[in-house]
Parts: sequence; structure tokens; C-alpha cells
Amino acid sequence: MDTFKNRRARLLARMGTGVAVIPTAPERLRNRDSHYPYRADSYFHYLCAFPEPEAVLVLIAGDTPRSLLFCRDKDADKETWTGHRFGPEAACEHFGFDAAHAIDSLDQMLPELLANQPSLWFSLGHEQAWDERITRALNAVREQSRSGSHAPTAIHDVRLTVDAMRLIKDEQEIAVMRRAASISAAAHSRAMRATAPGKFEYQIEAELLHEFRASGSQAPAYTSIVAGGANACILHYVDNNRALKDGEMLLIDAGCELDGYASDITRSFPVNGRFSGPQADVYGLVLDVQTAAIAAVRAGARFNDPHEAALKILVRGMLDLKLLHGTVDGNIESEAYKRFYMHRTSHWLGLDVHDTGEYKQGEQWQSLQPGMMLTIEPGCYIRAADDIPAAFHDIGVRIEDDALVTASGCEIISHEAPKTIAAIEAVMRDGR
Ligand code: GLY
Ligand code: MN
Ligand code: MN
Repeated sequence: MDTFKNRRARLLARMGTGVAVIPTAPERLRNRDSHYPYRADSYFHYLCAFPEPEAVLVLIAGDTPRSLLFCRDKDADKETWTGHRFGPEAACEHFGFDAAHAIDSLDQMLPELLANQPSLWFSLGHEQAWDERITRALNAVREQSRSGSHAPTAIHDVRLTVDAMRLIKDEQEIAVMRRAASISAAAHSRAMRATAPGKFEYQIEAELLHEFRASGSQAPAYTSIVAGGANACILHYVDNNRALKDGEMLLIDAGCELDGYASDITRSFPVNGRFSGPQADVYGLVLDVQTAAIAAVRAGARFNDPHEAALKILVRGMLDLKLLHGTVDGNIESEAYKRFYMHRTSHWLGLDVHDTGEYKQGEQWQSLQPGMMLTIEPGCYIRAADDIPAAFHDIGVRIEDDALVTASGCEIISHEAPKTIAAIEAVMRDGR
């Protein structure tokens, strides 16, 4: 509880003055009477970890900073159908707010809370229904102008302020993310052991999901990509419905979400458990590229350094494999390599799999600092084509790990997922 109180205190200090209104995510219908699994809004979760829908955090900055929660009232009948609700009283005590109120009183209380405040901190443009609700509250204050009340004159995007906080993970976040990565790594090992010619991609996906849930993860952090053969060259392939064939590779990009936090791991390996020569050539190249990119991660380096380190080695290797022709610099300059490597090497990782946080400060790439978490995920995707050596057709390889920036380098929190050719072949051999 102190972790979340501290985060609210830090945000209140950064605001200085004004009122922040931070709603959690709404429940969303999947189809008639049936909802998508509920997930709280990431900003709301970061600041209070209150798990129920229909909840709003209100922060009042100033000389006496206060944090208020609006949440659903206790309701014995509804709790019979959908489970426990804290109710304002228990929520206030359990989550350490200064006060809590029934969500039904929010619209009536908002104008009072906003009156005579210099600024409103809100995620304008995120949810239309909320924009309208806030507009109604502001107009209600404006209608009171003859009695001396005035509405906030400035609206700040509260997300930007929280983004800067979310970029540097604290100890609580790092502990959860280490555990999430460890569960995902175990899931990848399990998937390797289960893979064999004739299995369907969805059967391997089921192994991943089993390991996630059996280990306490609430959900996948994103839809698992289980892509055999040429499907590995479709970056966001999620059909996962094809049979795996002897002699082809399987690319799995899958990570669990644990207590709100994502992990994001990719492994690529042969369906039959033994790398062929050409598969080992491409895999070995991407592994060398990833090793170089990881070596470029350390406090003080720039966000783009791992990508630049990756490109040099990747393009050199593409020339050696005769996928490209010419010089390293020429192919980087012309971006000819994008035919085989069309995404970037890293993104921030946290509550969101593509986490919030600026990548640049003005024209300069963000400088890496201890506590930042980013993925390192080079790849090489070779679709069949007349001008490509046949041995490499339909080989798609990505290797993705999750890196915590430290003072001297980085900690690969996903290191338990087998990665060298020898380690992968051993796991697949022993799993049979
Ligand atoms: N799994 C999404 C990504 O790798 O960015
Ligand atoms: Mn990723
Ligand atoms: Mn991924």
C-alpha cells in the first residue's frame, strides 16, 4: 500500500496545484451479456491498484494534498452475482486514501472539487464519454461564476506526468516484472518441449497459456504469436491454426501479464528440434545481433544505441548470406535491409507491453537510466523469392528478451528462456 501512496504523493508533488481526475477502464461487452475479461486502466493501476471497474481517483494538490477514491457501493444482491465489492469505507482503509465516496456521487461532487482550482489534470481525448462528463462538470462550475466560483483555466494531460514516472521502474515493479519474465520463460521452455511435426500451432499456444495461468499470471500480455514456417514472416500473425511441418522453424512471441505488468519474449527454433545448416546460419546471425544490442544497453547510453549496434551486424550478416549486395553503410543508408528487418530493436516495457514514456527529448534520443525496462528484439524474416537463395526461403527468426537498465549494463530478466542453439536443442531433445 505504501508503494502506491508514495506514487500518489510524488504525482501530487509534481502537479504542485490543481485537481487530477483519473478514471479506471470501463468494462467492455464482448457480445450480448458477456464481457471481455476486465483489466484496469494502466495509469489508474499504477497509482492505486484498486481492482474494480467504475472507480475514479481524484488527487487534490496544494498545501494539503489529498487523494480520494470514488467506487461502487456495497450491494449484497449484485455481489451475489458478480462477487465482492470493497465499497468506499473498506476501500479507503485498505488502499490508503484520505477519503472514499460512492461512484454515484461523483457527478454531483465534481463541480465542487473543480471550483476555484487553477488547473485540471486529465487524459483529455482518451474516452469520449469522459470528455463529455468533464465538460459538464466544468460548465457547472462556470454557471456558478456569479457566486464567485471559477473553473480551472488550464488543462494538463496527466498522462505525460505519470509517463515520466512509469519510465523508471521502482523496486515493486522490478520484482513483479522479474517474476512475469520468469513465468514466460518457463512457458517458452514448455512450448519447446511440446513442439513436434504434426502438432498444430494452437496446441503449442495452449502450452503457453497453461504455464501462464498455472503460475498465477492473470492473462497473456498480448495475443500470443505461434508462427510456423512462412507464418513467422508475418509480424503480427495470431491465427495460430496451421499444422507444423518437419524441417521448418517455429517463431513464438508470447509473454504473460502478472499483476498488471507485461513480459515480452520471442524464441525461434526448429519444429523437429535440430537446426539445419541454413536455419543455424540465420539464427546464429540474429543471436550475434542480439548479443551486440544487449551489450549497448547501459546507463548513459542512448535509447537508439542498441538498434544502431544491431543494424551494423545484421546488415553485415545479410551481405554474407547473400540476401543483400553492396556495402554495410550503403544498405543502412538506403534502408534495403528493411525487406528482411522492418521493425525496430526495442520498445519500453511495463504495465503496457509497448509501454508509455518518451523515446526522444527534443531531437535527442532518451538517455538510458537505471530502472528503465526495454526489449531487445532483432529479427530476420526471409520470404521466398526468386532472388533469394532457396535454402533460406520462409525462415523467420526473432529473438526477444527483456532488459532492465543498470548502472553498469543491463539485467536480462527473461534469461531463463533457452536461447543458444545448444540449449534449445537440449531442451527439445530432453522433452521428447
Ligand atoms: N509482442 C509485441 C512486441 O514484440 O513488440
Ligand atoms: Mn516486443
Ligand atoms: Mn514480442
